[in-house]
Amino acid sequence: MIRLDKYLADMGAGTRQEVKRKIRKGLVSVNHKTAGAPDLKIREGEDVVSVEGREIGYAAYEYYMLNKPAGVVSATTDSRDLTVVDLIQEKRRKDLFPVGRLDKDTEGLLLITNDGLLAHRLLSPRCHVDKTYYARIRGAVTQEDVLAFAEGVDIGEDGQVERTMPGILEVLTSNAESEIRLTIQEGKYHQVKRMFLAVGKEVTYLRRERMGTLVLDMDLKPGEYRLLTDEEKKGIGASGLA
Ligand code: URA
Repeated sequence: MIRLDKYLADMGAGTRQEVKRKIRKGLVSVNHKTAGAPDLKIREGEDVVSVEGREIGYAAYEYYMLNKPAGVVSATTDSRDLTVVDLIQEKRRKDLFPVGRLDKDTEGLLLITNDGLLAHRLLSPRCHVDKTYYARIRGAVTQEDVLAFAEGVDIGEDGQVERTMPGILEVLTSNAESEIRLTIQEGKYHQVKRMFLAVGKEVTYLRRERMGTLVLDMDLKPGEYRLLTDEEKKGIGASGLA
């Protein structure tokens, strides 16, 4: 059970004050009867709530898979740039956030949700969730790089030592420009780029392809998104399976 004003505010029908005003004006109905008060208790998923005749269902949790395009920031709001949350047009929850950050120029898999517990589990290095990236690297990537990454590399700056956990580096092509796949379990700031810098190389393109059991749907073009399937939600241990 949830208060009517919270129900509507959670679903983005306005701020708590705005929805209270709408209720007072008689614009909100519950089970086809005009709602009298903002503290009316609503049974989520059972009671039919409408604002000006438009039915508003309740979602405790939402889970979107976004193929993040370059040029968009991994934040909820930004005064200058478009954010990954701005891209989700059909969202019902207003408390969505991206699970982890991809750099502005990075593409690929980003989970957008309001499930804080799940986000913590996917991001904590102690939970050992694999994150796999595809990247193009300027120059030839070598077996020495593979061995160095398997041990963990020092990505510290300004004389500070900052060792990464071991990473699995797979060399797909090695040439003037190489293609690689890298699996790591941490998400330090600019981690993939800094790991390559540690071995004297530069990442020219980066895309995340996997996070735990969640795999980027290659039918999604950069900028496109879809809801997670029930199976995907189960696989990552989502709190809300409905
Ligand atoms: N590592 C990076 O360097 N950048 C990202 O966006 C993600 C991982």
